[in-house]
Amino acid sequence: MIKDGMLKKGALTGQTILVTGGGTGLGKSMSSYFLTLGANVIIASRKADVLENAADELRSETGGNILAIPCDVRKYEELENVLKMGIDTFGGVDTLVNNAAGNFISPTERLSHKAFDVITDIVLKGSYNASLAFGKYWIKEKKPGIILNIVTTYAWTGSGYVVPSAAAKAGVLAMTRSLASEWAKYNIRSNAIAPGPFPTQGAWSRLFPEVLAKKLDPINRIPLKRYGEHQELANLAAYLVSDYSGYINGEVITIDGGEWIYGAGEFNMLDNVPSEMWDEIEKYTRNRKKE
Ligand code: HXC
Ligand code: NAP
Repeated sequence: MIKDGMLKKGALTGQTILVTGGGTGLGKSMSSYFLTLGANVIIASRKADVLENAADELRSETGGNILAIPCDVRKYEELENVLKMGIDTFGGVDTLVNNAAGNFISPTERLSHKAFDVITDIVLKGSYNASLAFGKYWIKEKKPGIILNIVTTYAWTGSGYVVPSAAAKAGVLAMTRSLASEWAKYNIRSNAIAPGPFPTQGAWSRLFPEVLAKKLDPINRIPLKRYGEHQELANLAAYLVSDYSGYINGEVITIDGGEWIYGAGEFNMLDNVPSEMWDEIEKYTRNRKKE
């Protein structure tokens, strides 16, 4: 399993990248690798202390230029402020990674309307707020831009028990593809990554609490029988925000060890059939010509 960076040293030099939710989890791992590759990175989310600690850690780990800006992505003006601070500090912002999210598992009928709102506001409204603020700026300044949205594989299959998240991520995926068409004429590319399970404190505490994980180990759904490595996702993200992927636009790339396709395949549960039983089954399934 690869745990190394993939791109050439300096591959992102001169590029300034905003990662929403960049102070924790996958956002932090992507930010770390972008810094290693020479990018200036802005991390933005609600908790100023978490952001500052992450920025200090990443700065000393990578020696890169990182700016932490408190921001609630549900508020358009706060994203305009992030953009303004990015321009003042780094002379411009080239790339937006819509990574911030909120999620938890619950039977839908137990949700209050406020609970539904809070998830869709962070995920869908947060992503369109940022895309609109940055898109307007790139178009006005005649600057190329890159949008990378972090969705999930249930953005297209849907999933019970995370309905607000599924609805919001489906909206983000539709926006990814729509803007890829509409804004390509301004040299703005839009792509998405759909990760399967990658262990993070944020996701595990809300989606795979210990009491549940003991009964339903999510690893059993993954044909590669392991979770994703953060560096594997960071490598893909770095590629998609780099010029090496300059002809990729409107794409969603799945990185899930085959999880969603395994769940979709009609007969994949036959993995559980022991080989002795296959002898028995074969007796029944062969030579059925006379029937
Ligand atoms: C039911 C819940 C709930 C729960 C909150 N609510 N948690 N309802 N089950 N577990 C309800 C509350 O009762 C309230 O409604 C409403 O939601 C808002 O809750 P607040 O706590 O006031 O909201 P807020 O402080 O803004 O926090 C937002 C949050 C929180 C989404 C609820 O979990 C958060 O900050 N999350 C950010 C990080 C995160 O979620 N990371 C995971 C991403 S993982 P009422 O009506 O009672 O007032 C991911 C991966 C997907 O997306 C794929 C994995 C394979
Ligand atoms: P995480 O660490 O909980 O990341 C979520 C981030 O979003 C946090 O840093 C949080 O910071 C920020 N955030 C939440 N609400 C916000 C708001 N209103 N404004 C600004 N920032 C906000 O979880 P993660 O697992 O790394 O998830 C990162 C992304 O990957 C998400 O888009 C998630 O859906 C996606 N994903 C993860 C997995 C997985 O297995 N981990 C699988 C599929 C997809 P604050 O609390 O400081 O605001």
